[in-house]
Amino acid sequence: MLLEKKVAVIHGGGGSIGGAAARVFAREGARLFLAGRSLPRLEAAASAARAEGADVSIAVVDAMDQAAVDRHVDEVVDAAGRIDIALNAVGFDHVQGLPIAETSLDDYLHPVVGYLQTNFVTAKAVSRRMIAEGSGVILTISTPGARLTGRGLIGNAAQSAALEGFSRALAGELGPDGVRVVCVRPHAMSDALATSYTREMFGRTADANGVSMDQFVSGLAAMTLLGRLPVLDELAEYLAFAASDRAGSMTGAIANLSAGALVD
Ligand SMILES: NC(=O)c1ccc[n+]([C@@H]2O[C@H](COP(=O)([O-])OP(=O)(O)OC[C@H]3O[C@@H](n4cnc5c(N)ncnc54)[C@H](OP(=O)(O)O)[C@@H]3O)[C@@H](O)[C@H]2O)c1
Repeated sequence: MLLEKKVAVIHGGGGSIGGAAARVFAREGARLFLAGRSLPRLEAAASAARAEGADVSIAVVDAMDQAAVDRHVDEVVDAAGRIDIALNAVGFDHVQGLPIAETSLDDYLHPVVGYLQTNFVTAKAVSRRMIAEGSGVILTISTPGARLTGRGLIGNAAQSAALEGFSRALAGELGPDGVRVVCVRPHAMSDALATSYTREMFGRTADANGVSMDQFVSGLAAMTLLGRLPVLDELAEYLAFAASDRAGSMTGAIANLSAGALVD
């Protein structure tokens, strides 16, 4: 198994990506600590991961709050001895699809500040424990907005490009301590729409463009080389590989999981 005896913390562990990653990490032998905002979603993710045979603990932790995340990380290390893998899969609805003239400063800054804040908070909390161990992997999640252009993308583009820059710089800082940082950049996942905040967000963009949700999603798929969007399991499998010792030489990387919407 890829992650046998590894201890993994997933912030946003009850979300679409957090839950999918939890299932695959569990199947690959990891001991899991899922932290998130809503207990019912955490419980559902934990029960799916336990069905794969994993030992899973859950905790309600605000991933924007440094003191709360630090406390939880300390509890995880007290219980499991160390943290090998930390995935920040926190996500929240924000404004996309509007021209700059119709976007307020607050709406523009909301994803920029929010995603940069939670990734700083969780990386700061886990890195001090990983540095002490001389090993660990921090996983961040960006979006194709980091490199796309077009109307309605400014907030998403700024937060995604900044998060990729943060991940690269953090990899440079933590590399000498044996800690890897890998950022994944998946396109919108078709099966995440059932549970993710993206349903509301893309729904508003589709409405603003006078198309149905199906038409909007088909339009995104048509812009990929594969003619389809990625699915949650593809991202979760990649995350498990990136977190494993088999990817031991991978750090400072931005993994392109855009199904070919972007080429490198
Ligand atoms: N879905 C996609 O297609 C896609 C594509 C590319 C990148 N991404 C990125 O992937 C990440 C996760 O997306 P997702 O689709 O998995 O979203 P999701 O299904 O909506 O899940 C996000 C999770 O984050 C939790 N959360 C939000 N604020 C929190 C906070 N302050 N503290 C702790 N937990 C918090 C949510 O809690 P609640 O359960 O209380 O809502 C939810 O469980 C985002 O960064 C997003 O940009 C997603």
